[in-house]
Amino acid sequence: MTDNLIAPSILSADFARLGEEVDNVLAAGADIVHFDVMDNHFVPNLTIGPLVCAALRKHGVTAPIDVHLMISPVDRIIADFAEAGASYITFHPEASDHVDRTLQLIRDQGCRAGLVFNPATPLDYLEYVMDKVDLVLLMSVNPGFSGQSFISSTLEKLRQARRLIEAAGLDIRLEIDGGVKVDNIGVIRAAGADTFVAGSAIFSAGRDADPNRYDTVIAALRAELAKADS
Ligand code: DX5
Ligand code: ZN
Repeated sequence: MTDNLIAPSILSADFARLGEEVDNVLAAGADIVHFDVMDNHFVPNLTIGPLVCAALRKHGVTAPIDVHLMISPVDRIIADFAEAGASYITFHPEASDHVDRTLQLIRDQGCRAGLVFNPATPLDYLEYVMDKVDLVLLMSVNPGFSGQSFISSTLEKLRQARRLIEAAGLDIRLEIDGGVKVDNIGVIRAAGADTFVAGSAIFSAGRDADPNRYDTVIAALRAELAKADS
């Protein structure tokens, strides 16, 4: 399988000093910036948009930015995020009337495209669009908030998604989002994930340990991943 990527969710960062938080978490060894976009319509919370993504790029962030759209409708905002420097753009199939078109729109804008599956959403949506997907994101909580508990049925769903990806023989990342912690990342890896979003586990726990250093928690996550791979 591919390398493991750690993607801190900035939903748990200190928004008053977001640029510094992102710099610190990347300096501590994170690979990707997970950027949660919520609209108080598709999910019951309201967060950040393309302006903030552009601000992070302007600040000097060069790592991939993984934009997780929890908004409906989706299509109109895609070009704005591409312009703002998004690397990945993922969306929930329920939020688009034309999933195939939305996936193509994202790639046409030069970004990598992903589909996101809520805990109760079956993987069926993938069947006819596998060749248009660069990333499959499984939600292991219901989207809207950080700090929720991992829903354990997602482990079986990860195994199912991994089988589909292997069978297709395509270069598709398998990402997990919600309730990922040091004590469960190993079983999540063993079930097939290769990209790990963690919000509260990194920013809240890390900040408690030391306000400006996330090295310890990221090293602990990596140690569990290494154990699962050995
Ligand atoms: C939830 C978001 C997540 C969230 C994860 O809707 O998509 O990215 O920030 O937070 P934790 O890791 O705390 O569950
Ligand atoms: Zn997310």
